[in-house]
Amino acid sequence: MVDEDITIESRLAEQEYFSPPEEFVEQANMADPAVYDRFDEFPEGFEEYAEMLDWDEQWDEVLDDSNPPFYEWFVGGKLNASHNCIDRHLDERKNQTALLWEGEDGEQRNVSYQDLYREVNAMAAALRSMGVEEDDVVTIHLPMVPALPITMLACARIGAPHSVVFAGFSASALANRVDSADSDHVVTIDGYYRRGDFLDHIEKADEAMAAVDGDPEVLAWTRHDEPQVDVSDDYTMVADLLDDHHGETVEPVSRDAEDPLFLMYTSGTTGEPKGCQHRTGGYLAYATGTSKYVEDIKPEDTYWCMADIGWITGHSYIVYGPLALGTTTVMYEGTPDYPHKGRTWDIAEKYDVDIFHTSPTAVRQFMKWGEEELEGYDFDFRHMTTVGEPIQPEAWLWYYKHIGGEDAAIVDTWWQTENGGHLITNLPAIQDMKPGSAGRPAPGIEPAILDDEGNEIGAEAGEAGNLAITRPWPGMLQTVYGNDERFIAEYWERFSDTDSDDSEDWVYEAGDAAVKGTDGYYRILGRLDDVMNVAGHRLGTMELESAVAEVDDVAEAAVAARDDAEKGEVPDVYVTVREGVEESEAVRERIVGAVEDGIGKFARPANVLFVDDLPKTRSGKIMRRLLEDISNDDELGNTSTLADPSVPEEIRDQLRAD
Ligand code: WT7
Repeated sequence: MVDEDITIESRLAEQEYFSPPEEFVEQANMADPAVYDRFDEFPEGFEEYAEMLDWDEQWDEVLDDSNPPFYEWFVGGKLNASHNCIDRHLDERKNQTALLWEGEDGEQRNVSYQDLYREVNAMAAALRSMGVEEDDVVTIHLPMVPALPITMLACARIGAPHSVVFAGFSASALANRVDSADSDHVVTIDGYYRRGDFLDHIEKADEAMAAVDGDPEVLAWTRHDEPQVDVSDDYTMVADLLDDHHGETVEPVSRDAEDPLFLMYTSGTTGEPKGCQHRTGGYLAYATGTSKYVEDIKPEDTYWCMADIGWITGHSYIVYGPLALGTTTVMYEGTPDYPHKGRTWDIAEKYDVDIFHTSPTAVRQFMKWGEEELEGYDFDFRHMTTVGEPIQPEAWLWYYKHIGGEDAAIVDTWWQTENGGHLITNLPAIQDMKPGSAGRPAPGIEPAILDDEGNEIGAEAGEAGNLAITRPWPGMLQTVYGNDERFIAEYWERFSDTDSDDSEDWVYEAGDAAVKGTDGYYRILGRLDDVMNVAGHRLGTMELESAVAEVDDVAEAAVAARDDAEKGEVPDVYVTVREGVEESEAVRERIVGAVEDGIGKFARPANVLFVDDLPKTRSGKIMRRLLEDISNDDELGNTSTLADPSVPEEIRDQLRAD
């Protein structure tokens, strides 16, 4: 159901437009409005992106849509992603920096395209020597160090799909993903720096390996020359393998356009994360094309996306898109406030960053720290991006003024793990910017706002509805790994005629609420399903609830999203305890611990609230929306379907009394 609050929010004051600076427009990769007409030649328009790549074999057909929603892109084409991101640049720029890495401890590494070529080849040979074959899924649990993109590209080189698990995920979340992907190889590291501490990462691998069903081989990188923590003899040290395979070259495996390049697990509405499976040709074409037109990346730029490669943003817009375009992509290991709150600007100045890409959460944090923290740093961004959450107009304006100096082009980019690349965003040299609005659809993308019955809501109505995409695009996921039924159920069933084999009857449901303005700009309002967005990290409430349910003291638990000025949303956990259990601090700590162990520290609940009863419908379904109203001190929504309509008020009274 489209929430009433969302409709109210969608009527917020209209914002004024800001034109992109003229100097920006003059140099932009794409400033010709005719690009939209070209991409409206569907599906041939998308060949413009595919043509940015090197293909071993040209495709015969752009799109095979005969078996929706199992679309095939650039059918018959063959290519290798590692070749496209490395080898093809060597003639022109082998000595140019590909990865510009800064450790949190101040260490720096400039990995040139030639260095990357050598390191990826050696790692590819190492992986093969460990028995990794084409189509084997390799799970990578690495933080923001060069080893991460090197391992990804080595996998791509030998045609082994990678499944990168964000380093902040716990051992149990890692084990779950290793099992789900039937992965026989896991790549980890001894540790990394976080706010000055060296975090032992091997502990997580040890614990995860004790929990997995199979018996995967573990390969361990080291952050320094020597391991800083104890590494089990069962693990193979990557350094030893690289010594053995130093100087070897591995011919990039020619992959079918439709062969999977990687899996990326993401949270959905059930407890089990879904492995979004991305294809090689369509994904790489889409990530590269949008990096060129939306991010305006040129080979001579220094480009910095502050995301973590462990999430999809980092895959598409730190690794694959930027490297396919032959640019210099910056990676930073640590947090922006260590050792001081000017660290981000220090890096921007030192490397003369041209393009800066971050999240609204980071912008709100910078804003909270104040513009004083920017004083004394000399940097000049030409282009800036936000991604991951709605950005409030005031945060946008602060970003524009204080970080962009009122002379940078800004794009707010809406997309999802499932999408491969930006779907709604302006092309910065063509449309004006509008604070708080993601803007127009990207070339070739056809969104629609649907009411709950699937009827389109016109822009004139100005009403919020379900955001849907009505035509396929090359960056879209192929399926949920090993589970085609879930793929259909999660994304297609609701608004499609699933009996039809006409692709026009198939509509992708994004799970977000949005409103379309008469100017054609879309404002994204937030998730409609039981998925919350914590500092740009997607978390399923069910996933959190199943972690909490592991605690014996808990009878029942429900998680609600509380609005947070900085992180966007944070999880509140409502629990009823079992008979005879005291509602104590110790129980609270066990619950927090269970979330940290089950998912990771980044998912830590903001509050654990003990209640006598949870609001449920007569059929026993927990009404999380009402808990959300309570968490946010909003007026209570409709309580008439509750088995006991007095429960929410009682919870409120109880919490106020505490
Ligand atoms: C969800 C997807 C791939 C981007 C990183 C997050 C929210 C994403 C925006 C935006 C408003 C946004 C949506 C979406 N979201 N970008 N520009 N404005 N909301 O990827 O973890 O798959 O999360 O993030 O709610 O559904 P993700």
